[in-house]
Amino acid sequence: MPTNSKTADPWAYTDIVKDHFLNPRNFIMGDETKWQADGEGIVGNPVCGDQMLVKIRVKDNKIDDIGWKTYGCASAIASTSALSELAKGRTLDDADHITAKEICDFLGGLPEHKFHCSVLGHQALHKAIQNYKSKL
Ligand code: FES
Repeated sequence: MPTNSKTADPWAYTDIVKDHFLNPRNFIMGDETKWQADGEGIVGNPVCGDQMLVKIRVKDNKIDDIGWKTYGCASAIASTSALSELAKGRTLDDADHITAKEICDFLGGLPEHKFHCSVLGHQALHKAIQNYKSKL
């Protein structure tokens, strides 16, 4: 997992992380039960107790739309925002193989001690894909 080695401060966030935290893409505003999904997954982070919900709409075996919501921290929000941008338009199998490294690279790095936050989104996405496939 690449860390934010671009600054001397190991706690520093990149400008890309800050942008995705302050302007999260594909975040579900309001009542998430009204966001109609073909599959959904929810996971908890055993390190901090935070939770992540990811919902997907599927068309032609690809992620047509993705929405998410979390009680997680800034890193979890930025990471899942990035994940949602990376996943949209990919086949289910391709999206299911997005790695924490790919998310971290997309964000220009994350503080090493925030790694556990970055995996929440794709764990929830994996569950959402499994949930969708279980209905076929
Ligand atoms: S501290 Fe819980 S997700 Fe980051």
